[in-house]
Amino acid sequence: MILKNDKDVTADALAVMAQTTDPRLRAIMVSLVKHLHGFVRDVALTEAEFRAATAVVNEIGKLTSDTHNEAVLMAGSLGVSSLVCLINNGDNGNTETSQSLLGPFWRLNSPEVENGGTIVRSGTSGDPLFVTGRVVNRAGEPIAGAKVDVWHASPVGLYENQDPGQADMNLRGKFTTDAQGRFRFRTVKMVGYPIPTDGVVGRLLAAQHRHPYRPAHLHTLIVKPGYKVLISQVYDPTDPHIDSDVQFGVTKALVGDFVRHDEPDPTGTAPWYSLDHTYVMERGETVLPKPPIK
Ligand SMILES: [Fe+2]
Repeated sequence: MILKNDKDVTADALAVMAQTTDPRLRAIMVSLVKHLHGFVRDVALTEAEFRAATAVVNEIGKLTSDTHNEAVLMAGSLGVSSLVCLINNGDNGNTETSQSLLGPFWRLNSPEVENGGTIVRSGTSGDPLFVTGRVVNRAGEPIAGAKVDVWHASPVGLYENQDPGQADMNLRGKFTTDAQGRFRFRTVKMVGYPIPTDGVVGRLLAAQHRHPYRPAHLHTLIVKPGYKVLISQVYDPTDPHIDSDVQFGVTKALVGDFVRHDEPDPTGTAPWYSLDHTYVMERGETVLPKPPIK
């Protein structure tokens, strides 16, 4: 179409999008163009802002590497990751769900650990934490033989891949649930941490006077054939940022039951902490996500 005005460009672009063969891709592209054009009109985007926006998109790509994913950070910082999670789980948002954000730090092939073992692989200071978990279906029945991948930041707020002071795969491990659907391990109590702020996301947060912190959390990724892969995070309710997560990830169902114990543990250490949590899996296709980093 030879355009007469701005209305024509929207109509023409929508008509072209409607030619997409695949029906799902067609629906996505038609809606995307409709909303993008609506957004440009809504904010009366200037030419300088448009050029800045394309530069930002390019910068997000350039900042992304094998060990850092700026696009995932940005999606989380805009609440989009959480929205996608919540409309796709728990009966499409109608009931509570154990599902949460994958985040940018899951690694494939973390080492297998016996139930009751430790995931501390190099000197890591911090209060001991004993985790017991139970994996069940929506009827509350145990799921045996599920593979439970766990990972978390150290007590200084860094994942091992961000910190040369930690051994490879420190604070990561893979467990198998027993006949009662249980797994358990020993680690150290994690703390909240700031997301990386040296890129595009950092500039956005500064412009909005937002702190960069995620509240302390334990990640899990649970795999059992016949069930949707369960990607979860359990949060520490005593963390000062529990109700202002920069990634909008904290839901009621994921606030963990962290208990402080002041009597010494078997090694004579006090205080120590325990966490017991039940993970609920939903039936579905078992598709492992692509790891955001290597
Ligand atoms: Fe995390």
